[in-house]
Amino acid sequence: PETVPMYPTLEKLGLLNAAHVRIKDLARVEELVSSLVSSGFSKLQVIADFDRTMTRVSYFGKLCDTCHGIMDNSSLMPAFYREEANKLLAKYYPIEIDPKMSEEEKIPYMIEWYNQIHELIIKCKVSQKSLEEMVSSSNARLRDGTRDLCKKLHEYGVPVLVFSAGMGDILEQVLRHFDVYTDNLKVVSNFFKYDEEGIVVGFEGDLIHMFNKNENAIHSSDYFDKLTGRNNVILLGDSLGDIKMAVGVPQPSNVLKIGFLNDKVEERLEAYMDGFDIVLIDDQTMDVVNSVVRLME
Ligand code: C5P
Repeated sequence: PETVPMYPTLEKLGLLNAAHVRIKDLARVEELVSSLVSSGFSKLQVIADFDRTMTRVSYFGKLCDTCHGIMDNSSLMPAFYREEANKLLAKYYPIEIDPKMSEEEKIPYMIEWYNQIHELIIKCKVSQKSLEEMVSSSNARLRDGTRDLCKKLHEYGVPVLVFSAGMGDILEQVLRHFDVYTDNLKVVSNFFKYDEEGIVVGFEGDLIHMFNKNENAIHSSDYFDKLTGRNNVILLGDSLGDIKMAVGVPQPSNVLKIGFLNDKVEERLEAYMDGFDIVLIDDQTMDVVNSVVRLME
């Protein structure tokens, strides 16, 4: 007689024997995914980080630009900016991903980083008009399958919150550039403030950095309240700070957290497996998410 599989949904999704897929609690994730799938699109919302989650880390061995990277490497920015920004990246990014430091220890450094970058950007008198060319000439790329995912979620009317500690104006331009900025998407990020001539003179609102995604704008707005009934969440992130993005969802039933682990894999795997339900190691695709969505159709 055929044996009954222990984890039929995970098996169907091909998640049991793939070397790059790590799941700490198979039984719990089986239950989580199967209830998510059986409740369907009308109960679902998606909360996604942007840089290195909706977008790729690298392409043919070359690192892809993040929102900040697009500016940091753009020939439309003055040389002093590119030089300074890359120096700051080399200083602060290792702190961001240091497996030995606590979040609390990292935060003051991250704020220091943002303050310096923001000051530099303001000095450069960046025009709103230049953003389109900055993005189109950059090597930012969507993760393979992000476009399919976005199209499906749009088709089924699933709200998507893109929650980013990057730069909102650039992020939105990337979404437009790749033709995925549909009306079911809401972007929460750091947006530029412009003068009458369309020159960047500052930033709107409170700073969103990678470790305060649980305590800013979106959580004091009525975004989540308007989505009542959508108690199932697929959360996508690449940073431990992303785990908190769903904190404001009222009475969430099932929050499936999928984490992309792209860097310092060995040192961070355990913490990622504690924080995310499914960890995808060095996976440059949306295949797993798309196969969950396919099961819902
Ligand atoms: O979209 P996400 O929340 O991931 O965006 C934040 C990312 O932007 C951080 O992970 C950080 O590495 C990057 N960043 C940067 N330069 C800065 C500030 C943040 O590249 N000045």
